[in-house]
Amino acid sequence: MSAFIDLEQVWFSWPSGREVLRGVDLTLQRNDTLALMGSNGSGKTTLGKLIMGLLQPTAGKVCLDGRPVQEYSLAERGRRVGYVFQNPERQFFAASVADEIGFALGFRGFSPAEVEERVAELLAFFELEQYAQAFPFHLSHGEKQRLALAAVMALEPEFIILDEPSTGLDWARKNKLIKALEGIRERGVGYIIISHDHEFCRRLCRSAVTLKGGRLT
Ligand SMILES: Nc1ncnc2c1ncn2[C@@H]1O[C@H](COP(=O)(O)OP(=O)(O)OP(=O)(O)O)[C@@H](O)[C@H]1O
Ligand SMILES: [Mg+2]
Repeated sequence: MSAFIDLEQVWFSWPSGREVLRGVDLTLQRNDTLALMGSNGSGKTTLGKLIMGLLQPTAGKVCLDGRPVQEYSLAERGRRVGYVFQNPERQFFAASVADEIGFALGFRGFSPAEVEERVAELLAFFELEQYAQAFPFHLSHGEKQRLALAAVMALEPEFIILDEPSTGLDWARKNKLIKALEGIRERGVGYIIISHDHEFCRRLCRSAVTLKGGRLT
């Protein structure tokens, strides 16, 4: 099986000259579950954005399913790899929780009845039924995290990158998120969890790497 995500000697500097990544190699299969750890400012979010093709490496290669990530359209990348931002609010745009989940499905050829069924399924899976008509920005932080994940899952991605999904969650909300991610893992969807939360990562990820001094260890 060829790798699903493959980074080869990836270097990245900001225009200011700040060198963030200094020769990162990373190979992941479709169903791998990886914890990406490292201190604040070590470049975790930058690495996530490079994998999504939202940033371009200064040197090195980023491939998705055997092809350079830049060869895919932005829409195609988003369909294959779901990305949950460090601040989930940044990805919300709809007037209701149900629309937030269902919006993209309309563009993918689903009939209104099918969209409704899919949305209902995802609302149930992420325990958000009672908020279906709520305004996404009014949800609690934990609910926002689960909505962001539900909206990403609606697109049936093959892989997901979650940037600090457990930050600011209390014990009960964190457990709900863990349950949801365990369900995703059981479906054979792999993920990278960017996190400082050792316990959260230990429960959800088979392997872990740490970003330090621009390299993975
Ligand atoms: N748009 C930008 N322009 C210039 N420098 C940036 C930009 N975004 C991030 N940086 C710098 O790049 C470095 C890596 O940032 P990044 O956000 O990837 O770190 P991180 O590991 O995700 O940190 P955190 O744990 O705080 O989320 C930091 O030094 C940061 O200041
Ligand atoms: Mg970050």
